[in-house]
Amino acid sequence: MKNILVTGGAGFIGSNFVRYLLKNEINIHIYNLDALTYAGSLENLDNLPDPSRHTFIHGDICNRELIDQLFRQYAIDTVVHFAAESHVDRSIFEPDAFIQTNVFGTFTLLEAAKRAWLENTPPIPDVRFHHISTDEVFGSLKEDDPAFREDTPYAPNSPYAASKAASDHLVRAYGHTYGLPYTLTNCSNNYGPYQFPEKLIPLMILNALEGKPLPVYGDGKQVRDWLYVEDHCEAILLVLRQAPLGESYNIGGGNQPTNLEIVENLCEILDEVVPHSPYKPHRQLIRFVADRPGHDRRYAMDIGKISTQLGWKPRHSLAEGLLATVKWYLEHEEWIAAIRQRGDFKAWMQRNYAQRGEEK
Ligand code: NAD
Ligand code: TYD
Repeated sequence: MKNILVTGGAGFIGSNFVRYLLKNEINIHIYNLDALTYAGSLENLDNLPDPSRHTFIHGDICNRELIDQLFRQYAIDTVVHFAAESHVDRSIFEPDAFIQTNVFGTFTLLEAAKRAWLENTPPIPDVRFHHISTDEVFGSLKEDDPAFREDTPYAPNSPYAASKAASDHLVRAYGHTYGLPYTLTNCSNNYGPYQFPEKLIPLMILNALEGKPLPVYGDGKQVRDWLYVEDHCEAILLVLRQAPLGESYNIGGGNQPTNLEIVENLCEILDEVVPHSPYKPHRQLIRFVADRPGHDRRYAMDIGKISTQLGWKPRHSLAEGLLATVKWYLEHEEWIAAIRQRGDFKAWMQRNYAQRGEEK
C-alpha cells in the first residue's frame, strides 16, 4: 500500500478514515477524490495530521477520463471507495443521484481499476479495490432473527440500500469475472465527529441544543447496531493490511438500542453536559412524527468472521461513544454554523418535515 485513492474522503466516514490512515500508516500518500456534494466539506479535512501526504482532488467518481488520469498520474495501487449518496430519506424522495453515484460511479471506478491494473502485461501486482458498504443490503430483521452474516442473502428495501447492493454485486462480479483484487466490508450505522446533521444522532444533538423538536419516526422502536466511527476506521485498515482478497466482512457495534432509547440517552447526556440549558429536561422536545415509508425495523451484525480472522472488535461502548460525540459537537460550533448556512440543508430539513408533519 503506497498510493491510495480514497473516494468520498470529505464526507463523514471518509474524512475520519483519512485522519486515521495518516496517523496510522506513515508510508502512504492519500489522493482524496470528492465531488463535495451537500454531504462533503473541506471543513471536515481541517487540521489533518501530516497534510503533506494528502492531496485533495475535487471531482466526480462518474468522470471516466478523470479517474483514468488519476490512476496513471499517481500510480494508484489501492482504492478505498466511500463515495456515495448515503441518506435513506433522500433516496426515497430523490433516488436518481443514488443510482448515478452508487451504481454508475462504482462501475466507473471498477472499470478504471481494471484498465489500470489488469490490462497491463504482466498485471500490476499488490493492488486492491476495497469497497465500503452497509448492513442495509441485507434488509430488515424481525425481533428474534439472528444477526446478519456475510452469507445472509441480500434483500435491500430502500432505493439507497438497493443501489449499495447493486454496487456490492458489481464489485464481486469484477473479482469473479476479471480477477480484480478486491475486499468488501458491510458496516452498521456509524456515529461520531463530522457526521452531517441529517442523520439521527447529530440531528438530535443539534436540534436539542437549539430547543427544536426531536422528530422520532413512527413508534421509535426500530433498532440499529450503532458503531463509533473510529472503530469502523480501525476495522477497514485491518482489512486493508491483513484480509485475503475476495473476502467480505461484516462490521458492527454489537449494540441493540431502539431509536427512542438513543434519543432519550442523548437527552440525558445533554442534561448533564449543558446543565444550564433552558431546554432541560431535553426529553420534553421529543415528538413522534410520521414514519419513513418502508422503514426497516431492525439491523444487527454478526461480527464473528472479522473477530476470529482479523482479531477486530469495537473499542468504544455506546455510552462512551455517545458522550464523546455530544462533546465533539459542543466543541465545534464553527463547523456547525458552516453546515447550518448551507441553503441545501435548510431546504431539505423543511421539505422532509413538511411532508412528515406531527403524528400526535
Ligand atoms: P456521507 O454522505 O457523509 O459522505 C459521502 C461523500 O461522498 C461526500 O463527501 C460526498 O461529497 C461524496 N460524493 C457523493 N457523490 C460523489 C460523487 N459522485 N463523486 C465523488 N464524491 C461523491 O457518507 P458517509 O456516511 O460518510 O458514508 C460513506 C460510505 O460508507 C458510503 O458508501 C456509505 O454507503 C457507507 N456506509 C455508511 C454508514 C453510515 O452509518 N454513515 C454505514 C455503513 C456504510
Ligand atoms: P439514519 O441516521 O437516517 O440512518 P439509517 O436510516 O441509515 O439507519 O436513521 C437511523 C434511524 O433513526 C432510522 O431508523 C430512522 C430514524 N430516524 C428518526 O427517527 N428520526 C430522524 O429524524 C432521523 C433522521 C432518523
